[in-house]
Amino acid sequence: MAFKERVFSGVQPTGNLHLGNYLGAITKFVALQDTYDCIYCVVDLHAITVWQDPPELMRNTREVTAAFLACGIDPKKQIIFNQSQVAEHAELAWVFNCVARLGWLNRMTQFKEKAGKDRENVSVGLYAYPNLMAADILVYRATHVPVGEDQKQHLELARDIAQKFNVDFATSIHAHGYGDAFFPQPEPIIQGPATRVMSLRDGSKKMSKSEPSDYSRINLTDDADTIAQKVRKAKTDPEALPSEEEGLKARPEADNLVGIYAALNNTTKAAVLSEFGGAQFSTFKMALVDLSVAKLGPIGSEMKKLVQDPVYIDSILADGSARASAIAGETMKAVKDIVGFVRRS
Ligand code: TYM
Repeated sequence: MAFKERVFSGVQPTGNLHLGNYLGAITKFVALQDTYDCIYCVVDLHAITVWQDPPELMRNTREVTAAFLACGIDPKKQIIFNQSQVAEHAELAWVFNCVARLGWLNRMTQFKEKAGKDRENVSVGLYAYPNLMAADILVYRATHVPVGEDQKQHLELARDIAQKFNVDFATSIHAHGYGDAFFPQPEPIIQGPATRVMSLRDGSKKMSKSEPSDYSRINLTDDADTIAQKVRKAKTDPEALPSEEEGLKARPEADNLVGIYAALNNTTKAAVLSEFGGAQFSTFKMALVDLSVAKLGPIGSEMKKLVQDPVYIDSILADGSARASAIAGETMKAVKDIVGFVRRS
């Protein structure tokens, strides 16, 4: 069966939106809106899988919304909302808790990393998190999901869940007139030179919100001086830049900075190296500072302006939630019929 093409993605409101979120996800969100109907969600239900200070969670939810707007997502054409305003996410996640297998979740590397040695003491929500993520996507029967590389395994799980639901309920799906499959197999969109932006302090670690050193990342709200300082201090090696991509192998810090430059400039690593091959890092970093400030500076200023007006931000989220609810409500009605829940008509 052909499904209507639709994009869905989410970002957690857990503070410090950084260059990795921007290049790995948000720039893709912006680009896709020209060709698809898109739904972009601030995933506050996901955020509380780890304890969040309530006023800060609200602030962060509005800040991620501000980032979506400042980066250029059009809230009239597309849907921007926060997850907790659409109850169907949690409702479908429960059904998926009963579809997904324990063994599948046990394989999730992100859970293992996040739980670390303290496994007995993390929330059940953190463990079941990928099922909620599958519900986020599939409650809109979304077909395309732009994400960074770190979400690939979660996307594979979402595909497995969709598939198992379709098989487990095949007869009922057919009987209710949905053909062979009720849920699509959502396609991850993981493309370009910066699908996994690394820490500026250590090229073997992902750039992340939770890394203690602020010098490891560029935050979207950093001012020009801070961006310049962080780029200048970024770890490098003593060699000049190579002229071919091949020369970036085994040079993770160089590879990362070249990837960042390429993504910010909307080009490829090969093109960047053909310009900077043979240059010292001091020269390349100056160019990277200029480019980063030119691209991120206006976004940071716009975000700071937008968060001053929570009433406006909340109105965007309310409008988006209402439109998202209309779609999610239809899906949930169908799911209830398919699963065999008696419901009000
Ligand atoms: P989150 O909030 O950790 O990150 C948001 C997006 O940013 C991407 N990202 C990166 N990309 C490249 N390099 C990095 N260093 C980097 N760090 C983060 C992430 O891959 C993500 O695309 N589970 C998701 C949120 C989520 C979601 C969903 C995504 C919930 N439901 C449904 C897609 C569809 C997460 O924690 O992303």
